[in-house]
Amino acid sequence: LRVYVPYETTALSLGADDVATLIRREAERRGIEIELIRNGSRGLFWLEPLVEVATDEGRYAFGPVELDDVASLFEAGFERGAVEHPLALGLTDQIPYLKKQQRVTFGRIGITDPVSLDDYRALDGFKGLDKAVTLPSQALVDSVKASGLRGRGGAAFPTGIKWQTVLDTEASQKYIVCNADEGDSGTFADRMVMECDPYMLIEGMIIAGLAVGATQGYIYLREEYPLAHELLNTAIERAYAAGVLGADVAGSGRRFELEVRLGAGAYICGEETSLLESLEGKRGMVRAKPPLPAIVGLFCQPTVVNNVLTFAAIPSILAEGAEHYANYGYERSKGTLPFQLAGNLKQGGLVELAFGQRLSDLIYQFGGGTRSGRPVRAVQVGGPLGAYLSPEQFDVLLDYESFASIGAVLGHGGVVVFDESVNMAEQARFSMEFCVEESCGKCTPCRIGSVRGVEVIDRIIKGDNRAANIELLEDLCDTMIQGSLCAMGGMTPFPVKSALKYFPEDFNRSEGA
Ligand code: NAI
Ligand code: SF4
Repeated sequence: LRVYVPYETTALSLGADDVATLIRREAERRGIEIELIRNGSRGLFWLEPLVEVATDEGRYAFGPVELDDVASLFEAGFERGAVEHPLALGLTDQIPYLKKQQRVTFGRIGITDPVSLDDYRALDGFKGLDKAVTLPSQALVDSVKASGLRGRGGAAFPTGIKWQTVLDTEASQKYIVCNADEGDSGTFADRMVMECDPYMLIEGMIIAGLAVGATQGYIYLREEYPLAHELLNTAIERAYAAGVLGADVAGSGRRFELEVRLGAGAYICGEETSLLESLEGKRGMVRAKPPLPAIVGLFCQPTVVNNVLTFAAIPSILAEGAEHYANYGYERSKGTLPFQLAGNLKQGGLVELAFGQRLSDLIYQFGGGTRSGRPVRAVQVGGPLGAYLSPEQFDVLLDYESFASIGAVLGHGGVVVFDESVNMAEQARFSMEFCVEESCGKCTPCRIGSVRGVEVIDRIIKGDNRAANIELLEDLCDTMIQGSLCAMGGMTPFPVKSALKYFPEDFNRSEGA
């Protein structure tokens, strides 16, 4: 009897470890022999800890399981799968939240023991790499170009073109750097990849190395992800032992080495050039571009810097073919994006969908509306630098161009929902305050502008010369957009401006002029 209890940060924070221990003890007490597997999470967070049992018909799910439920699950004979129990959810694959998704990158996630190489291989793991080692570099880059994959960190730059730049730049040493400094509010897709399917990231990075001629890779991981750190290190160690990493990658005669490096908690180190500075052991300050990291990157060498989700998409592009991946999606947004539903929602979690569906479907069909039961008032997509959207915009299509056409960004796919109790003037203030905290300080519009931004919004909230201060705030936002060196200062105005535009009443709530 195989029982699965997730070993993933969200499930663990909801008590998965204690549930696993109790299941083991209860099985022993009842003389039932079980094999307890610690899988990754399926990403249905409101159902965690989600316990599954394997049967001949497939895996049955029960959740959210608390300690008090364990005895009654055994009494109901949960090992048979289809049983009457208040927590019985039926076959896991048939849970509508999962069934309606298009899981490509997340196809294996939550199913396997994340660090088991056998599990990984059994579900098509290393199929992409096995193909990659038979192809010349240019063919690999061409595959990625043909897939239409764009950078999943947020900027959506075509990955194949970035790789081509690195391939075409002559150097004795090139690097592959994975940006795993996932700092956007409400996002957790990178973490899930690293905790629930780390070999997929490793495989994607090795393929990138083969494609551009790089022999050394680094995963720059935020230190707030200790479990991802542990699991990545275990996976890397096992990949070395299995000959997947090292001097002779998968028997190809080509080298690829990989290490994890920890960040120290600065949001700006998610910006690629400050990430590189930090990797070099310096303070995380933004470098002016050009030169692009693809030409002058880590230790001044040509470097591919891609997000976790970008690398994670690579193995299936190689294994299934570029066309298979490009068939998902909408217009210039090819493939899928793992959206992360967070904030005031009944059903928060990971939803991977092909581009081109509606934001409203994510909020209502998947998210189930607000947890508080009150109407949704605003949604912030794309992290703390993303615009706030109001309900009349919820029918926007989920693709890069449709979002750009309404002055918004999809970014890394984070979706944070607020109900009508939110005060958008406070949210606008928070955006500026965040920039004050996280600015690297290199350029004036961001370093000083954000401090002035907080002060101006405070005056508006107080009702102090409101009309003039709103005008001043708009002007300050335009200066920051046009004059900042990177997206930190350049995009902080997006949430501020959208709050002013779509929720003006919140800036007029208090007494005053
Ligand atoms: P960018 O548009 O300057 O660059 C995008 C990428 O393409 C970079 O890697 C750049 O080096 C590369 N690139 C551009 N032209 C190239 C060329 N001709 N050849 C090769 N490579 C080329 O955007 P940036 O500043 O890197 O990222 C901004 C985005 O980051 C924002 O849109 C935001 O959504 C996102 N973001 C994501 C966060 C997260 O936690 N995932 C946090 C904060 C921001
Ligand atoms: Fe640094 Fe802000 Fe300028 Fe970016 S915009 S370089 S974070 S000061």
